[in-house]
Amino acid sequence: MHLTREQEGMLAGKEGEAVRKAMELIVALGDIYGAERLIPVTSVQVSGVSYKTIGDAGLDFIEDYARIMKKEGRKVRVKTTMNPAGMDLEKWERMGVDKGFADKQLRIFNAYVSMGIEPSLTCTPYYFVNVPKTGEHIAWAESSAVSYANSVIGARTNREGGPSALASAITGLTAEYGLHLDENRKADIIVELDFEPEPYLYAVLGNHLGSMLTKMGRKVPYFRGIRPDEDSMKALGAAMAATGSIALYHVENTTPEWKDAIDDKLETIHIGRTELMEHIKGMDMGCEPELIAIGCPHASESELERIAELVKGKKKKEGKELWVSVSRAVAERNPEAVRAIEDFGGLVLRDTCMVVSPIENRFSSTGVNSGKAAYYLPKESFCRQCVRFRPLEELVMMAVVQ
Ligand code: F3S
Repeated sequence: MHLTREQEGMLAGKEGEAVRKAMELIVALGDIYGAERLIPVTSVQVSGVSYKTIGDAGLDFIEDYARIMKKEGRKVRVKTTMNPAGMDLEKWERMGVDKGFADKQLRIFNAYVSMGIEPSLTCTPYYFVNVPKTGEHIAWAESSAVSYANSVIGARTNREGGPSALASAITGLTAEYGLHLDENRKADIIVELDFEPEPYLYAVLGNHLGSMLTKMGRKVPYFRGIRPDEDSMKALGAAMAATGSIALYHVENTTPEWKDAIDDKLETIHIGRTELMEHIKGMDMGCEPELIAIGCPHASESELERIAELVKGKKKKEGKELWVSVSRAVAERNPEAVRAIEDFGGLVLRDTCMVVSPIENRFSSTGVNSGKAAYYLPKESFCRQCVRFRPLEELVMMAVVQ
C-alpha cells in the first residue's frame, strides 16, 4: 500500500505511541483487504462502549489507550461520536442497574471523553449529532448506523470494529477498500416485493433477508416495488445488518445511489406477504412481556411523538414497564413527548438500549418491534429474553390499562 511521507512518519512513531499503534492497525487492515492507499475520513462513530458488551478486557484496553493519549497530549482528530452505553447515565438506578456495573460503565465513558470523543451515546448519530453528507468517507462502527449512513445518506463506510474505528478517530484516516470504492457499491441482487409492507413489516423483511442474502453470498440488495419512509429504512437496515452482513442497500426511486446501482442483468428474488408473516413466527416467541422496549435503533422524533400520543393521559398497567430509547438530542428537542411518556409511568432512556443494558438481571420477557432486538434479545449468552414481536401500537397498548 502506498503511504505518503507524513503517513510513513505516523507509522514510524514520529507523532507518538497512540498514533503509531492506530496506524499499525489501519495499515494492517488495508494490507489484508488489498487497499492501495489511506484516505481521510470526516467523521467516526465508535462502538464498544457498553460494559456489558466489552467487559473488563475492553475497559482495560480503553483506559490504557486513554492514558497514552493523555500523556502525549493527543485527542481524536475528527468529529467522533459514541455508541450507546449499558445504562442511562442519570436514570441507571431506575433501570435496576447495580452500582458495580455503573462504576465500570462510567470509567469507560470517561476514558472515551478524555480522548475528545463526544458524549453522544447513541446508535443514531445521524439525527442531529453526527450527520455526514452524501459521498463523504467516514469510519463508523455501529452496524445499524453503518447501514443507514451508506444506504439512506449515501456516505461511505465499511462496517468497522471498535478498535479500527478508534484508530480512524486518532489518525483521521481509513484504508480505501470495500464500500469506499464505487465498484463495491453496486447491487448484486434485486429483491422485488409486490405489496407495500406496513411499517412494522420492514423489521421483519430485514430480519428475514439479512441471513438469507448472506447465506447466498450476496452483499448489496436492490429493492424494487416499495416506498419506505426513513423510519422504515432504519428498521430494515438495522435488521439486515444484525442477522447478516448487509451494510448497504438501495431502494428504487428512493435512496441516493439507486440510479447507478445496477449494471448488469441481476438475479431477482420475490418476497411476498405470506413469506413475511411466516417469518414472524420465528421472531415472536408469544410470551406476555414484562418489559416493552421501543427504540432499536434509537427512536426518531416521529417515533417518540407517536408513542407519546398513544400513552398521553392513560394509566400504565401494574407489573408492566415501558422503555423508550432515544438519543440525547432527540429527547432534548421533544420535551413534551418525554413528559407524556414519563407521566404515564414509562421511562425515556437516553444513552442506552434494551440490548446493551443488563436487562437479563431484571426481566425475562420483552416486547419489541425491532428486527435487530428480536435477533439479539433471546441469545442465551447475552440477554436471555423470551421475545414478543409486535407492531409498535400493539406493543404500547399492552402496557396501557384499557
Ligand atoms: Fe442501537 Fe441498541 Fe439497537 S445500540 S441498534 S438500540 S441494539
